[in-house]
Amino acid sequence: MPLICGAMYPCSNPELVAAVSAAGAIGIIQPISLTYVHGHDFRAGIRLIRSITPNPVGMNALIEASSRSYHERMTRWVEVAIEEGVRFFVTSLGNPRWVAEKAHAVGGVVYHDVTERKWALKGRDGGVDGLIAVNRRAGGHAGPKTAEALLEELGDLGLPVVCAGGIGDENDFAAALAMGYAGVQMGTRFIATPECRASDAYKAAIIAADEDDIVLSERITGVPVAVIRTPYIEKMGLSVGPISRWLFRHRRTKRYMRSMYALRSLWQLKRASLDTSDTAREYWQAGKSVAGIVRIEPAGEIVRRFAEAVRRMEGASATSTATQ
Ligand SMILES: Cc1cc2nc3c(=O)[nH]c(=O)nc-3n(C[C@H](O)[C@H](O)[C@H](O)COP(=O)(O)O)c2cc1C
Repeated sequence: MPLICGAMYPCSNPELVAAVSAAGAIGIIQPISLTYVHGHDFRAGIRLIRSITPNPVGMNALIEASSRSYHERMTRWVEVAIEEGVRFFVTSLGNPRWVAEKAHAVGGVVYHDVTERKWALKGRDGGVDGLIAVNRRAGGHAGPKTAEALLEELGDLGLPVVCAGGIGDENDFAAALAMGYAGVQMGTRFIATPECRASDAYKAAIIAADEDDIVLSERITGVPVAVIRTPYIEKMGLSVGPISRWLFRHRRTKRYMRSMYALRSLWQLKRASLDTSDTAREYWQAGKSVAGIVRIEPAGEIVRRFAEAVRRMEGASATSTATQ
C-alpha cells in the first residue's frame, strides 16, 4: 500500500505510528516527538511500537547540521533504529549521504524530502532511493510548488517520487497515483484519529477548517510553516519583524537565530498540541488537506478506505483497457 504517515513534530506518538503500519501502510517515527513530547526513551519507544505491530515502520532524520551535538544525537538515533530493525528512513534538509550509507549497509531504504529540483539532485548524489515531493499544500514546512509542477521537475531523475501535501481523502489519493506519483505521504489526515495524542480542540479545528483557513506563518521556526488561522495566529501576525529577518539573513547570526527559534518552537508546539487549557495560544500546524477531512476516524480505517479506492481505480482502468 503506497501510503506513508509522514513524521510529525509534535503529533507522531508511538500508538499512531504503530496503527498506520499495522493496517498495511507505513508510519514514520519522529525522534524528537517520540522522546521530548511523548516521553519515551528512544529505544523503548521503538520497542513499544514493535509490541503493537511487527510490520515495518520508518524513521525521520532531520539532518540539517545545525550543531555538532544535534548531529551526534541524530547519528545515535539512526544507529539505534537500525539495531531495532528499522529499515526505512525519511531524510529532510542537509546531505543524506551518511544516512544512506548506514541504511544501505543493512539493506535499508532512504527517501529524501525535497521541495525543488536542486535538493533532489543533492539527494540523488547522496545515494537516496526515492524522493518525497513536498508541495505548496503540505502541512509543516510547505514547499513553493504545486504537485503537478514538482512531478514534472523531478520525474526524470530515475527515482520513485512520492507526493506530500494536500491529500485529505481517498479521491485525492487516487488522483495523485493517477498523476504518476509512486505513493503518497500524508500528515494532517492522521492527526484527526483517535490514536493521535493531539488535543481534541486541535482535531476539531482540523475538521472545521477549510483550505482557506490554512496560512503560512514564519513566526514558529523562522521559515514558513502551514498553520490553522486561529485568533492567536492572527494576533501575532504571520511574518517575523525586520530585525529578526536581518538576523536570519546575516551569516554570523543566522545559525544562532535558527537554534533559538527551533528551541522555542519545539516548546510552543508541544504545549499547543497537548494542552487544552491554554486556548489563548492555539498554534496548530495543518495543511490544505483539511478540506477533505470531515471526521475523526481510526488510522486503520483511513488506510483501508484509501486501499479500497486504489483497488476501484485499478479495476476501472483494467475494465477500460479490456473494452478498448
Ligand atoms: C503537525 C505536522 C508536523 C510535521 N512535522 C514534520 C517533521 O517533524 N518532519 C518532517 O519531515 N515533516 C514534518 N511534517 C510534514 C509531514 O511529514 C508531511 O510531509 C505533510 O504533513 C504532508 O502534507 P499534509 O499534511 O497535507 O498531508 C509535519 C506535518 C504536520 C502537519
